[in-house]
Amino acid sequence: MADAGRHPNITIHTLSEVVDVKGYVGNFNVRVLKKARYVDEKQCTSCGECSNVCPVVFPDEFNMGLSSRKAVYIPFPQAVPSSYVVNMNECMGRGCSKCLEVCDKKCIQFHMSDETINVKAGSIIVATGLEPYDPREMDEYGYTRFENVVTSLEFERLVNAGGPTKGDVIRPKDRKHPESVGFIQCVGSRSKKKGGEYCSNVCCMNTIKSSLVLKEHNPDISVKVFYMDIRAFGKGFEELYNRSRRSGVQYLRGLPGSVEELDNGSMRVAVENTATGRIEFHDLDMLVLALGIKPSNGTRKLQEMLGLQLNPDGFYLEAHPKLQPVDAATRGIFYAGCAEGPKDIKESVTQGTAAAARAVRLMHKGAITSEPITSMVIESQCKSCGICAEVCPYNAISVDVKKKIPAKVNTAACAGCGTCAAECQFGSIVMNHFTDEQILSQVDTMLGENAMDKILTFACNWCSYAGADYAGVSRLQYPPNARLIRTMCSGRVDEKFIWHAFEKGAPVVLVSGCHIGDCHYIDANHWTRKRIEKVRKKMAKKGIRPERLQLEWISAAEGVRFSNVMADMEKLRQKVSTEEIAETAKILAKKDQKTTRESGHA
Ligand code: FES
Repeated sequence: MADAGRHPNITIHTLSEVVDVKGYVGNFNVRVLKKARYVDEKQCTSCGECSNVCPVVFPDEFNMGLSSRKAVYIPFPQAVPSSYVVNMNECMGRGCSKCLEVCDKKCIQFHMSDETINVKAGSIIVATGLEPYDPREMDEYGYTRFENVVTSLEFERLVNAGGPTKGDVIRPKDRKHPESVGFIQCVGSRSKKKGGEYCSNVCCMNTIKSSLVLKEHNPDISVKVFYMDIRAFGKGFEELYNRSRRSGVQYLRGLPGSVEELDNGSMRVAVENTATGRIEFHDLDMLVLALGIKPSNGTRKLQEMLGLQLNPDGFYLEAHPKLQPVDAATRGIFYAGCAEGPKDIKESVTQGTAAAARAVRLMHKGAITSEPITSMVIESQCKSCGICAEVCPYNAISVDVKKKIPAKVNTAACAGCGTCAAECQFGSIVMNHFTDEQILSQVDTMLGENAMDKILTFACNWCSYAGADYAGVSRLQYPPNARLIRTMCSGRVDEKFIWHAFEKGAPVVLVSGCHIGDCHYIDANHWTRKRIEKVRKKMAKKGIRPERLQLEWISAAEGVRFSNVMADMEKLRQKVSTEEIAETAKILAKKDQKTTRESGHA
């Protein structure tokens, strides 16, 4: 942190909040609200005189409220910049002014106000960190009722040599040295009812480390860990776990059901030991709750600003879990640390370094090359309805609906999903390399001969097409009459492709894409789902069986699923008679004649 603070090419905006982000890769405009510090950070020498005379005392957040601080304070010892800050909500202001009087350098400046800074950036790294789980929700462990039940973060401050007790572990209630300490694992993790369903990744190792520190401080101390299972999966972790066991730490499989306080301030823990199948009671001087990890509070706000995607647990979703683990789906945005999911320090450092390297790789040429697969507006046909801008997951299209200014595509921001082209009612968007003409002629070719024997399938490039590929390389059997048309995203599948296929005699049509939440173009497949629902309703109205159009989500790893879906499609196809296909073609041809007549009158 101090190194970053001193680096000539790094500017750190502390006490700041991103309030708006506009633009696209290579050209982001970020508006930052820099809150007033009320101390001139360039002049402040951190002598601490102001804090010494400040009469206002508040709990110190850095020490988890286990010590106090003044209204003018340094947030934590290694803070950058190493300068004091005044919390104006706590300060008595000019009514007191003791800090003003005592500061020789006149650093305290009550007239400072918040300012807005505009930052131009070529790429953005999102490293918004995490929030610990709030244990008040799980009060069966007595966190809100018993002082000697502490969180793992509070314990960390207690055991830390720079903490409020200088590393001397004492019970908060009576400041006695505990002779027995219990740790409860997975508080707010791996639970369907409270907290997250995911593993928080760091709690097991943190507890193992804490147990060893306790044993180093006092070899006679009794330490018990209540756990579901210990996840010591990293390099050297198993060894640390074994060391902790060898030092006498007891690991008991089972999470406590209740905690009670005894007269002497100790905790009585009732637990079903799932290794022995017995209910046990353990009396412990102190209890530590190993807290799980949650996404940081501003995650959703930033997600909306940057047009990012979240996974079901609320963390940012990477563009690809294996091949692009630090990239966001939006070009020019990268992730580091727990913003993307719970991580330990080593993983966070690795990911931070990777994100920085990815950003440099993108920026060092001084120019951005855009992909050829982008959409293009035919201005003369555009009616400025704004649908394209609404459905674009990347905000790459601008259109002035009121002034009727035609849509414009920012090719640097466009990722090429094709949803805009599929949703445009007026055919005024061309998706380069996946144009209507190209796709319709593929439909024509595939249904050119014996159309009634074919299973026409639209498959998205990233998941379903890859799933088909996987089925192929795994030598899985699927009907040989399946015909696949690849689009970059299922969002590109225009309803006119489907109508055209039925008109050309397709017995069944399958549209397939990535699972909801996994689309490589943020949420473009939500539009696919809506569109297919709409088409199926229209089919029912026209007297065409809606079952003949299917929508399936198939991932790249689901080769088996692909082959099963295809087998089901084949069964469906066999139920469609020649008469039904002919009748459908007649219905659709009638509609075409009507449309031609109407456009002729117009
Ligand atoms: Fe597969 Fe969008 S990329 S559905």
